[in-house]
Amino acid sequence: MPTIAVVYYSQTGNTEKMAQLVAEGCGQVPGVEVKMVSLPGADMDSVTGADGFAIGSPDYFSYCAGHVKTFFDDALPYRHALAGKPYVVFGTHGGGARVVESLERLSRGLGLKQACPGMMCMGAPADAEADHVRALGRTLAEGL
Ligand SMILES: Cc1cc2nc3c(=O)[nH]c(=O)nc-3n(C[C@H](O)[C@H](O)[C@H](O)COP(=O)(O)O)c2cc1C
Repeated sequence: MPTIAVVYYSQTGNTEKMAQLVAEGCGQVPGVEVKMVSLPGADMDSVTGADGFAIGSPDYFSYCAGHVKTFFDDALPYRHALAGKPYVVFGTHGGGARVVESLERLSRGLGLKQACPGMMCMGAPADAEADHVRALGRTLAEGL
């Protein structure tokens, strides 16, 4: 069964709420297993074995959070196994909204292949945004 790893960091819960919605969207596609990976503390051997990745972070100083950058640093030795696998990115922010750019650049650096444009929410996702966030996960899962 294909597996998607939803990898994220969240200090105050906004990005975690988004990660849960992305995971719900992945789960809307039959036959796809979803694993939540809250950073820090990822088992890199296990996570990098997934078939697709949804990677999320709060915007910290117009970049991803340090724990998420460390995840990418730790994933570099696995780049040959990761190359060509699909990914989506998501992030929350307080009004600056540049975190997705950094996540996309880092994902490209690992050779991952973008399944669809990333998404950001200001603070926690609003009820009106929930279906859009779920669609991000569903699109990723449909492509497996
Ligand atoms: C250290 C730090 C730096 C931040 N820098 C930015 C920033 O540059 N731009 C922005 O829009 N929000 C910034 N924020 C706000 C967070 O991105 C925002 O509150 C986010 O939703 C928090 O996510 P979380 O609840 O998942 O931890 C910053 C917050 C912190 C704690």
